[in-house]
Amino acid sequence: MKSSDLDVLIVGAGAAGMMCAIEAGKRGRRVRVIDHARAPGEKIRISGGGRCNFTNLGTGGANFLSENPRFALSALKRFTQRDFLKMVERHGIAWHEKTLGQLFCDDSARQIIRMLTDEMKTAGVVLSLNLGVKAIARDGERFTVDLDDGTRVSAASLVVATGGKSIPKMGATGWGYEVARQFGLRVTETRPALVPLTFEPGLLEQLKPLAGVAVDAVVRTTGDKARNASFTEAMLFTHRGLSGPSILQISSYWREGEAITVDMAPGEDVAARLLAAKTENGKQAVHTALGHIIPRRLAEVICARENLSGKLAEIGDKKLRAMAETVNAWTVKPVGSEGYRTAEVTLGGVDTAALDQQTMEARTVPGLFFIGEVADVTGWLGGYNFQWAWSSGWAAGQSC
Ligand code: FDA
Repeated sequence: MKSSDLDVLIVGAGAAGMMCAIEAGKRGRRVRVIDHARAPGEKIRISGGGRCNFTNLGTGGANFLSENPRFALSALKRFTQRDFLKMVERHGIAWHEKTLGQLFCDDSARQIIRMLTDEMKTAGVVLSLNLGVKAIARDGERFTVDLDDGTRVSAASLVVATGGKSIPKMGATGWGYEVARQFGLRVTETRPALVPLTFEPGLLEQLKPLAGVAVDAVVRTTGDKARNASFTEAMLFTHRGLSGPSILQISSYWREGEAITVDMAPGEDVAARLLAAKTENGKQAVHTALGHIIPRRLAEVICARENLSGKLAEIGDKKLRAMAETVNAWTVKPVGSEGYRTAEVTLGGVDTAALDQQTMEARTVPGLFFIGEVADVTGWLGGYNFQWAWSSGWAAGQSC
């Protein structure tokens, strides 16, 4: 079998793998990156609606979920959002802040991929596409890796940067978890995150007319206090349940069997507004009055669900208050999520207790590194997941 010697073999030419390759290459290491996809950085290409929300100005430890929430801090502090931004600017990529500190390319996510592949070239990194791994073995202090093309690679460091299980259509397999298990490392429970939530058929039928309606909302968990969370962002009714940024965010904290509460009129005391409207103009229809506070289609469906029709003046205050409660604190139990098919990320992954937080190296297997989404570090929506990929890739690149 044809065999070649390397310092570093990186599996996965995504955000984390390419960043790691650049840094290791700059240190003079002989680096090869392999990926079973046809092109590098496919998730970067489709991210942020094609414009890649490449980081968040407000990135900090509080924006990440993990069994060990402090694990990510070291890498995030050593290679920050500002450091990545400097790289973007050095490459002349125009960017803008959209909202809540989220930075996007003005033109195209492809510019970020080009930036990374150009930097890899400069750092002397070899990139091999359409190539996967057949088997990995530990050979003394090195790794012997058999590739799909029948060749064998011997490497001092093996970096697993294969991401999570989300979007299997794009080649996501969860392969990195198998590698972790092969070397005796624990993998925490994994589940789809940043994902739309779904409703049971009966509720869907009632809410059918709302598909496509968006509102600003405050969405909260109601389950285990350890997973308390609340997000104020847009929410979208879909044909299958709820989506939009606030729902994607809460999905990382929600568990099956739990309800969420939704305030569909943040900052508005809907009961007070309806009672005032009743005094000022009792002749107006109840759905019209409610339609001045929330989108009209939503107002109509809520009135129908509460069996309220006719003029405000004809409806008792108690009933108006009860309806207002369903607007300010709608409690609803999703039955599930859309799953890995559409999830932006995988929650959970390689147990961070098994990894060195400075280098991402497995404590018990010198030379084996896990970076990016494959590790149990999951960011909020808004550029945090890419920042984790850049920071963890950079950290591993300093010592692999
Ligand atoms: P990533 O998944 O990027 O890369 C893994 C690579 O490994 C892939 O190239 C894959 O082909 C390869 N691979 C997998 N298994 C392999 C195997 N067995 N052999 C060889 N190669 C293998 N985040 C954010 O911060 N801002 C955003 O705007 C978005 N937007 C967004 C949109 C959509 C639709 C999705 C699905 C996700 C996002 N994300 C995001 C999340 C972000 O894309 C994600 O967190 C990072 O890409 C993770 O980077 P990694 O390098 O860890 O994995």
